[in-house]
Amino acid sequence: MTEVMRIERSCFPVAWEYSIFLNICLQNGEVKSGEARSLIMDVFENSGRVAGYIVWETDIVRKEGHILNLAIRQDERRMGNGRRLLSHVLDHLRNIQINTCFLEVRESNFPARNLYESYGFIESDKIPSYYFDEDAIIYSIDL
Ligand SMILES: CC(C)(COP(=O)(O)OP(=O)(O)OC[C@H]1O[C@@H](n2cnc3c(N)ncnc32)[C@H](O)[C@@H]1OP(=O)(O)O)[C@@H](O)C(=O)NCCC(=O)NCCS
Repeated sequence: MTEVMRIERSCFPVAWEYSIFLNICLQNGEVKSGEARSLIMDVFENSGRVAGYIVWETDIVRKEGHILNLAIRQDERRMGNGRRLLSHVLDHLRNIQINTCFLEVRESNFPARNLYESYGFIESDKIPSYYFDEDAIIYSIDL
């Protein structure tokens, strides 16, 4: 958890609270909310150290997935790890018959935008001032 928080704080100007990660971990990586929705986290380790993580939400009634967080430790980047985590999530969504997946990203975050676009995500909308200091681009993909 300490390593996840270290990566989180190094990646994002407004980091998620420790309690959010702790809550997911305490429930073995999946927090269910009602019958339809789950919040899931996967942590990727390399040589016994946390190298990155991804958090996503599933809604089996709306048949929608939503990627909420993705981060790779600085010295583990550009080695295909981001793509591997993304691929893992999209496979999971397909396996549970989810039809579509979306996410928000800072407009200036070109590494992430390139990753999503290289994976087939399409820019579908823009939310002005979503991050207060910056707009968000919404990407989506049909599965
Ligand atoms: C975005 C991030 C998750 C990418 O992780 P990664 O492990 O480096 O990504 P990969 O090695 O799998 O790269 C896959 C593709 O993404 C794109 N990409 C990744 N980093 C890039 C960079 N610095 N500049 C341009 N394109 C980049 C490329 O298209 C790359 O394919 P290529 O290596 O064949 O050119 C990582 O940079 C990160 O953690 N950033 C900080 C947190 C963040 O912004 N998260 C996303 C929030 S929406």
